[in-house]
Amino acid sequence: MTHDTRPLSQDVFYARSNAVPLPLIVRAEGVRMWDDEGTDYIDVSSGPVVSNIGHGNKRVAAAMAQQAETMDFAYSRVSRHQPNIDLVTRISRLAGPGYERVCLASGGSEAMEIAIKFLRQYVVATGRPEKRKIITLMPSYHGGTIAMLGITGDDDLDTFIDGFAIPAEHIPAPFQYRVPDNHTSQTWRMSCADALDQKITELGADNVLAFVVEPIGGLATGAMPMEEDYANRIRDICTRHGIFLVYDEILCGAGRTGQFLASHRYPDAQADLVVLAKGLAAGYAPLGAMLAPANMVDHLSDLTGFNFSHTYNANPITCATALAVLDEYDRDNLFDAARERGAYLRRLLDSLAEKHACIGDIRGDGLLMAVELVADRNSKTSYPGDFLPTEQVRAFGLQHGLIIYSRRTANGRNGDWFMVAPPLTITEQECDELAERLDATLTDLTAAGLVHMALEVAS
Ligand SMILES: Cc1ncc(COP(=O)(O)O)c(C=O)c1O
Repeated sequence: MTHDTRPLSQDVFYARSNAVPLPLIVRAEGVRMWDDEGTDYIDVSSGPVVSNIGHGNKRVAAAMAQQAETMDFAYSRVSRHQPNIDLVTRISRLAGPGYERVCLASGGSEAMEIAIKFLRQYVVATGRPEKRKIITLMPSYHGGTIAMLGITGDDDLDTFIDGFAIPAEHIPAPFQYRVPDNHTSQTWRMSCADALDQKITELGADNVLAFVVEPIGGLATGAMPMEEDYANRIRDICTRHGIFLVYDEILCGAGRTGQFLASHRYPDAQADLVVLAKGLAAGYAPLGAMLAPANMVDHLSDLTGFNFSHTYNANPITCATALAVLDEYDRDNLFDAARERGAYLRRLLDSLAEKHACIGDIRGDGLLMAVELVADRNSKTSYPGDFLPTEQVRAFGLQHGLIIYSRRTANGRNGDWFMVAPPLTITEQECDELAERLDATLTDLTAAGLVHMALEVAS
């Protein structure tokens, strides 16, 4: 074993074999970040799709400082505070009817746990304790706590989970880029929706608590959007069987797709609960939220109450930060910007696809997109596993001034992609610059891929 020479930042815990360099970021403003040598980068994916309002916002920083000076902490079990009241009122108003109650958390995984625990406590309190099973998509990602790794759809985790966490039941994700030979994309996604019906029947509806799904995926599916007919079908199936439908909007919610909730695009397929995080405080403070209807929360409150909390739930500085972040959404019309700049950037990516055959697919909505990389566009064949295109694109991106969020998931079985989700504050000129830098990045990636595959044939 060699001695680790890496500085003691968080990455000492990650695999040493991950050879993509990590720049030491010392400053960030708008869509840009600078390292300690003064090199500037465009934040192509807003970190892991977090920095929705861009970096270095002075108004948000001032609101954080002011709250810290006025009242740093007040515990929600023994007191109330105004930033909590103002924030949940505002989130609930933005989310609309059906989401009158908002439980705050310190991040996405914690908020997902709250959603599942809330449903479990609800069925226990209302006399249906046999409802335990959770259904999710394969692949999917729902968080990094032990319970959320259990429900995440990633079969590489099988050994880790086995006998250790409670695994969810899985149904296939309705990928639209590659569909089985006997299907069109429409019949395939409907058959994926019907798999939910079959799974519930197989498990017995009385044993199933919830179906958890992302309206638009993140890294696990490469921004795979859930089409409206699929959403309507799964809503109908859940209603018919008395199963709760939970939308995990941790990554796709809070404005990324041009509306507060990504699921606002399905007027007839509203979830029972929605979970938000990332863009809500946009990286300025750790925050997550579970959105629930008044009737369920108040009913449970009359019975046992929802009795699980965390010390930092509704932290005043976090609440004040999120209120200031939401002000920025209003001030700069960032929901409209997500739609308009998303369409603009999509056109630029489409032009890049004409030039770069390594672009197999571009998918997503608003400013939440992913680009799938392929070795052969006609056959949709992925790059060889040992080429690791997801790491190559990051490495070449750094050389051309781009920080890109990308990492191989499911060992590449579903394909390889990287996230294109810059801050919603990005201008058209900055989109042009991003596309120019991406053009150079993909030129290098294609050349490296050809060399790699030629060497493979030769050996
Ligand atoms: C869809 C989805 N669910 C849950 C999570 C977990 O959120 P967090 O990392 O804030 O715990 C993530 C994070 O990437 C996510 O994208």
